[in-house]
Amino acid sequence: MLESQFQVVPFNRSYLDNVVEINRICLPENYSNYFFLNLLERFPKTFHVALVDEEVVGYIMCRIEVGLSELGKLSLAKKGHIVSLAVLPKYRGMRIASALVKEALKGMAEYKVNESFLEVRASNHPAINLYKKFDFIPRRTIPSYYRDGENSLVMSKKF
Ligand SMILES: CC(C)(COP(=O)(O)OP(=O)(O)OC[C@H]1O[C@@H](n2cnc3c(N)ncnc32)[C@H](O)[C@@H]1OP(=O)(O)O)[C@@H](O)C(=O)NCCC(=O)NCCS
Repeated sequence: MLESQFQVVPFNRSYLDNVVEINRICLPENYSNYFFLNLLERFPKTFHVALVDEEVVGYIMCRIEVGLSELGKLSLAKKGHIVSLAVLPKYRGMRIASALVKEALKGMAEYKVNESFLEVRASNHPAINLYKKFDFIPRRTIPSYYRDGENSLVMSKKF
């Protein structure tokens, strides 16, 4: 599918049910409605959905945090944290996630972050490859980060 066949638009409340459903279909890490709406209220520039013919087929949501740098140095940084990203199985491999990440990174730049980071399952090669394409570098492993005991990989990139 060409980029012109889908659209990336800012998330709003009318997409909430669809995004909650996509999250449940695609990921074991699920959140309350409040969690999604809170991120919308605080960081709207980094919360987007992908639409195909008006149907919501994917989303990305992020949080802006201040804390220890994820680039491996001992300093404080303003960080854009990719909290959740998913595309419905039927629409994968069409560069929809790439378009969502691109838009979220643009939003992070508007929030003037110094860096961006995320946690990803160590076995999630599609997502790891996707983030590498955006110059995210694997930095460290957090053992048993997920409820089922799987390790996470922290990946980050400098802005
Ligand atoms: C990871 C995910 C978001 C990718 O969505 P997508 O729209 O299919 O991704 P894209 O089409 O934009 O792919 C971009 C790049 O990601 C990598 N990639 C995507 N799917 C892949 C796969 N099945 N195997 C290997 N690499 C893959 C490739 O490097 C690809 O670049 P290319 O098209 O030049 O080969 C999607 O598979 C998904 O929703 N998975 C379940 C939820 C999830 O894992 N979310 C991430 C949590 S951190």
